[in-house]
Amino acid sequence: MKYLVTGAAGFIGAKVSEVLLNKGHSVVGLDIINDYYDVDLKQARLSPLLVNDNFLLVKIDIADSIDVLELFKNEQFDRVIHLAAQAGVRYSIENPMAYADSNLVGHLNILEACRHNNIEHLIYASSSSVYGLNSKVPFATSDSVDHPVSLYAATKKSNELMAHAYSHLYGIPTTGLRFFTVYGPWGRPDMAPFIFTKKILNGETIDINNNGDMWRDFTYIDDIVEGVTRIADVIPTVDSQWTVESGSPANSSAPYSIYNIGHGSPINLMEFIKAIEDELGIEAKKHFRGMQAGDVYQTYADTQDLFAATGYQPKVGVKEGVANLVHWYKNFYKV
Ligand SMILES: NC(=O)c1ccc[n+]([C@@H]2O[C@H](COP(=O)([O-])OP(=O)(O)OC[C@H]3O[C@@H](n4cnc5c(N)ncnc54)[C@H](O)[C@@H]3O)[C@@H](O)[C@H]2O)c1
Repeated sequence: MKYLVTGAAGFIGAKVSEVLLNKGHSVVGLDIINDYYDVDLKQARLSPLLVNDNFLLVKIDIADSIDVLELFKNEQFDRVIHLAAQAGVRYSIENPMAYADSNLVGHLNILEACRHNNIEHLIYASSSSVYGLNSKVPFATSDSVDHPVSLYAATKKSNELMAHAYSHLYGIPTTGLRFFTVYGPWGRPDMAPFIFTKKILNGETIDINNNGDMWRDFTYIDDIVEGVTRIADVIPTVDSQWTVESGSPANSSAPYSIYNIGHGSPINLMEFIKAIEDELGIEAKKHFRGMQAGDVYQTYADTQDLFAATGYQPKVGVKEGVANLVHWYKNFYKV
């Protein structure tokens, strides 16, 4: 099958591309390779993909509607896995317009291109951040998600709404995936697991938000990718019996689905830091501080829908996942 993977130089996109190629698919990887974080890391993720004859890299900004439409017309994809976005909660406080361009205009351009090119299935990245002010756990796709606490989260919720409108209007099968704090080798330098590993190794002090009283459903990269590739085969269909009153918000009369992909067992932030300290054999210098703007107290995925649809549930535990992250970090940065 021919896949488009947007955000292919990114943490999740590079691994998704690799797994699709290993399964024998051909992949066009789209990425603007922006400098939101270390471009060398993005290039290094791409290097092994670029030697594969079934992989083609295109440097396109998804906010450019003409380029996106032309790519779809020329390549005629079967399926689209749309992961390109301006990620990060904290950055959205300082740079809101980057989120409008990549996450709103960019997402709309992908939907428009799907509309005009007969795409079998559009799978796109949403986020656990859409649960915002929700306090009932675990977070279920049947819960209301109308109270985001960052612009990033608001754009991800918007992506789900835009996808629903296009599924309804044009019959495009769309699936939104709410990822829960992804970590592991080749991870993102703006996220806590990477920052903690780097700073502890350098002997620098780490900032601990909300004085360590936070819970995160850390999910290992391979589990996320397994979920994404399995869901790609679960194409939503029209359900004429569905109504707003009787059905789940994660489904529709249109070919539309939403799933959580998370480990389903949150751990305390201090426990996660301890796992990194243990793996490194170094005790972190810690600076405790208050809650940061845009942050949520806890995340915890209800993964029943994912399991029902795919027979799969994320399984890599924190000890193993952190060991792999630390091992990769030391190798890659030669420390
Ligand atoms: N990593 C997580 O914990 C997590 C959690 C929830 C949701 N997500 C979502 O999953 C997706 C992938 O996340 P990631 O961690 O791999 O992020 P990432 O930043 O590593 O990858 C995103 C890639 O998209 C590219 N990109 C950004 N704007 C673009 C544009 N306008 N045109 C073309 N390319 C563009 C970037 O260059 C980058 O390589 C994102 O949509 C993100 O919001 C990630």
